[in-house]
Amino acid sequence: MPLERLTSARQLSIPVLNEIFSQARKMRDICKSQGRTNLLADKMIGLVFLEPSSRTLLSFQSAAQRLGAGIVFIQGVGSTSFEKGESLSDAIRVVSGYCDLIVARLPKSGDAQIASDASSVPFINAGDGGNEHPTQSLVDTFTVSEELGTLSNLQYTFGFDPLQSRSIHSLCLVLSQFDNIGFDFISPPELRAPSWLVEQCKNRGIRVTESARLADLKNPDVIYLNRLQEERFPDRSLFEKYRYEYRLTPEQIPASTRLILDPLPRVDEIALEVDQLPIAGYFRQAQNGVYIRMALLAMLLGRAIA
Ligand code: CP
Repeated sequence: MPLERLTSARQLSIPVLNEIFSQARKMRDICKSQGRTNLLADKMIGLVFLEPSSRTLLSFQSAAQRLGAGIVFIQGVGSTSFEKGESLSDAIRVVSGYCDLIVARLPKSGDAQIASDASSVPFINAGDGGNEHPTQSLVDTFTVSEELGTLSNLQYTFGFDPLQSRSIHSLCLVLSQFDNIGFDFISPPELRAPSWLVEQCKNRGIRVTESARLADLKNPDVIYLNRLQEERFPDRSLFEKYRYEYRLTPEQIPASTRLILDPLPRVDEIALEVDQLPIAGYFRQAQNGVYIRMALLAMLLGRAIA
C-alpha cells in the first residue's frame, strides 16, 4: 500500500521496501544516464531541518532537484520564528501551506509524529532526536540488498551506541521482518540497546546477543557502526570515557564480514585504514541516499517511473 506519511520504520513493510527499491534502481539509472527528470516538476518540497545534517539534507535536496521539484527550506532555528517561540505544530502547519510535501529533521524524540499530525501535506521524518531515522533504514537496507543480494539469512553486528542511535533503531525495526537473521549489539554497558528494541526483535524471532567488548565480534556478515551520539549524552564524562575505546581497525574485522556500513558522519568508530577494504561500503551507502530519497519523494506524491 502506498505511503502518504513516513514517521517510523515500523511502516516499512517488505512490499513497501520492494516498491521503493525498484523505483530507486530506476532513479539510479536516470541519474547516470540523463541526470534528472521532470517527474515532480509541478511540486514544491519543504525541508525543515532544525538539527545539523549533511547527508540527509543534501541528498533530499539533490533528490528533489533531480526530480525537477522546487525547494523551500529552514536550516537551523537561528534565522526563523522558532527563535520567537513559535511552536513546532504552528510552524509545520504554516510550511505545509507553502509546499506539497515536508521533510523534517527535528531535535526531540516524538517530534516527527507531532509535525506529521500538524502537516496538511505528506510528511517524512528525516530523524527525530534519538528516536528514529526511517529514511536512513531505507538507504541501509537498499545497500545491503544491492551489495549482498539478500536481506535474509544474515548475521549483523551493531555498534557502538545502540541506545541513542536512531539509525540503528530504525534499521533493526525494518530488518526484523526478514528470515533467519541475528543481531549482535556491541556497546559500553551504559549504552546498551533499549529494552523496547531488544524485546521487539526477540518477539519477531531474531537471535539477539549483547557484548561490551569489540573483541567479542562474532561472525558477522554485516558490521553496522555509528558514532557515539555525543550530542545526546546527558553526562559528558560518559562520552569522554568511551570515545576512543570503541574503534574498528582492519585487524579486528572477522573473516566472515562481507560488508561494513555506517550512516556517517564517521568520528572515531572506524579507523581510516578500513576505507581501503572493498567491504567498506559506507560511502556507496551515502550515495544510495539520493536514489532512495528520489523514490520516496515520488511515492509519497503518488508518482512513479514506469
Ligand atoms: N546519516 C545521516 O543522517 O547523516 P547526516 O546527519 O549528515 O544527515
